[in-house]
Amino acid sequence: MRTQVAIIGAGPSGLLLGQLLANSGISNIVLERATRDHVLGRVRAGVLEQGTIDLLDEADAAQRLRGKGLRHEGISLAFGNRLHRIDIADLTGGKGVMVYGQTELTRDLVDKRELAGLTTVYEALNVEPHGFGGEAPSVAYEKDGVTHHIHCDFIAGCDGFHGISRKSVPEAAIKTYERAYPFGWLGILAEVPPAHHELIYASHPKGFALCSMRSTHRSRYYVQCPIDDKVEDWSDDRFWDELRGRLPPEAAAHVVTGPSFEKSIAPLRSFVAEPMRFGRLFLVGDAAHIVPPTGAKGLNLAASDVRYLYWGLREVYQEKSEAGIDAYSEKALSRVWKAVRFSWWMTSLLHRFPDAGDFGRRIQEAELDYLVHSRAASASLAENYVGLPY
Ligand code: APR
Ligand code: PHB
Repeated sequence: MRTQVAIIGAGPSGLLLGQLLANSGISNIVLERATRDHVLGRVRAGVLEQGTIDLLDEADAAQRLRGKGLRHEGISLAFGNRLHRIDIADLTGGKGVMVYGQTELTRDLVDKRELAGLTTVYEALNVEPHGFGGEAPSVAYEKDGVTHHIHCDFIAGCDGFHGISRKSVPEAAIKTYERAYPFGWLGILAEVPPAHHELIYASHPKGFALCSMRSTHRSRYYVQCPIDDKVEDWSDDRFWDELRGRLPPEAAAHVVTGPSFEKSIAPLRSFVAEPMRFGRLFLVGDAAHIVPPTGAKGLNLAASDVRYLYWGLREVYQEKSEAGIDAYSEKALSRVWKAVRFSWWMTSLLHRFPDAGDFGRRIQEAELDYLVHSRAASASLAENYVGLPY
């Protein structure tokens, strides 16, 4: 088999890249380890920057999002028993974000890919990128017990943090940076109207909480929890009590409870691998970097990598220039590190750290107070929240 770009992984990175390339006449095959149902069932964050929406538009995959996404022009920080609104639109010259679940976005991209008749191999096992240091890379995989080889010009490693692409690179050629946080997020989805019309990020002596949503009748809530808690430890009742206990009365009073239909605990981590290009292999999205979900940058960073790589590959095929792919790693990493910083900062500001001590907590309180009373500080938060320029 031969294709121009072999894409490993059918997460948002792989699917979006595949769609953009195909629309520009660049052939690609997506190899995915999991089943189609698994890919479509994953629940993740749900806040899109304008730049991400623009790219989805360019991929002609933003129709449903435009109809169903919720535009938000502010967020609230909750601390000291009250809500403090950050007027994002006012602080950024009219910008906002779109609340639209990654699950829905993945569905849109899968539908689009299938409608266009593009090849996705699900349950592709033992995927292995080969020869990316030279001129003739290939990707081997097994399907139904048979080994196949895809010969290609380039390999896009869109296979997430646990994927094979980053692991295929010689250790000496890659440098990684990592920070693990000493807590997790317990998240639930419930078919109940959201407590508030915008997102609430709450800092409370009992820990962080987040009120988010998927629609006007579906809510997504999170509470900070000990890293080794098990989902079974958390009944719905316990979750709702904990959530309400961490919100100011004006928000807690509007929490509508109901049975959860998804409940999971996620660890929080910051991780960056440098560089993001190894000859004809490119790392994209979670394969190269992870951010904690505070600020919802994961998917948006994946989209910005895709944008840089797509531009670069288009230049290769349409203009016979390698300038774009040569600049890929540096450009992508420059944006990645700023989002890594922002996510780390929001996480540090809003969570309870076991070893922070009284001094650390008073510093957090002072920073929150400064943040909501200084236009310069609020503007910095808003500018990062809507997404830094490309
Ligand atoms: N072979 C083939 N596919 C693989 C392999 C492998 N060895 N390893 C992982 N995969 C697949 C996974 O099953 C998954 O479908 O690669 C895909 C990676 O998808 P994501 O983890 O969603 O990563 P990415 O597409 O970069 O999306 C980034 O999604 O993960 C969230 O929070 C993250 O919002 C961010 C965004
Ligand atoms: C979500 O809706 O899942 C969400 C929203 C904002 C975040 C993280 C997650 O910062």
